[in-house]
Amino acid sequence: MTTRHFLRDDDLTPQEQSDVLDLAAEMKANRFGHSPLAGPRSVAVFFDKASLRTRLSFEAGIAELGGQPIIVDTQNTHFGRGESLADAGRVVSRYVAAMVYRTHGDERLAELASGVDVPVINALSDGYHPCQLLADLLTIREKLGSTQGKVLAYVGDAANNMAHSYLLAGATAGMHVRVAGPSGFDPAPAVVGRASEIAAWTGGSVEVLRDPREAVDGAHVVATDTWTSMGQEEDGKDRLTPFRPYQINSTLLAKAAPEAIVLHCLPAHRGEEITDEVMDGPQSVVFDEAENRLHAQKALLTWLLAVNGK
Ligand code: CP
Ligand code: NVA
Repeated sequence: MTTRHFLRDDDLTPQEQSDVLDLAAEMKANRFGHSPLAGPRSVAVFFDKASLRTRLSFEAGIAELGGQPIIVDTQNTHFGRGESLADAGRVVSRYVAAMVYRTHGDERLAELASGVDVPVINALSDGYHPCQLLADLLTIREKLGSTQGKVLAYVGDAANNMAHSYLLAGATAGMHVRVAGPSGFDPAPAVVGRASEIAAWTGGSVEVLRDPREAVDGAHVVATDTWTSMGQEEDGKDRLTPFRPYQINSTLLAKAAPEAIVLHCLPAHRGEEITDEVMDGPQSVVFDEAENRLHAQKALLTWLLAVNGK
């Protein structure tokens, strides 16, 4: 049997994504009622990049599922240095029920997952942040009732991992996804193509725009992210001036639907991609969104263990 992993948002079909979100809502309502990792079985969580939310929500979530989290900051290990990631994965898979990995290039996740019979979860890569999107979609369901047919506008760095995940996961959830960023910061064409293909099955749609006001116009969900992702600090690009018009402030937010909610995966750079007024305002649901990382990832782990017969 081929092992099912969660390396990109489109590793879940629309039905599977919906099932994981249903389970997440159930687990949120009955927080300590599920123990698929009882034993305890262990889950290894590897970080090549910094984290607060992902690290703590996985650590707490694995414990809440009756398991033992093993959190590894990879700087002091052989992980991916000297020893190949494929070999490291084969070793670690003998110890744990699942692996979670935050890294740089997506090829590193693919290599780790190659040849292992336990599920591997992407905890953020240069290309995608699919666990964040499960939390975002859960939040949208809670606040707006459903995702189907809702307009989601993501403005800012439209070339980054969050933009790609909004395109893929939003399309999978039947949303109308609009992304807008400055010239030179557009999403990868292959991701836009794949998201459009998915949207054609789900009744959603995908648009890549330049004008942030056009993107936000009438939107039900307005989202942004840092203009400088981890690893881009020294890439020589001006990551402030071209982005200024994409700031989520009260003027831009006024273009959205009156009931619109504001998402930000955090950490936020207040005064850059989002103002204090919006971040702390009545439409912001960013702290519920952060909480939902915990519930969504518990559901994802539970679902992946079950589907892989573990
Ligand atoms: N949103 C998110 O992934 O946050 P961390 O980088 O703190 O894990
Ligand atoms: N795009 C950001 C998301 C952080 C959660 C980054 O990759 O740094």
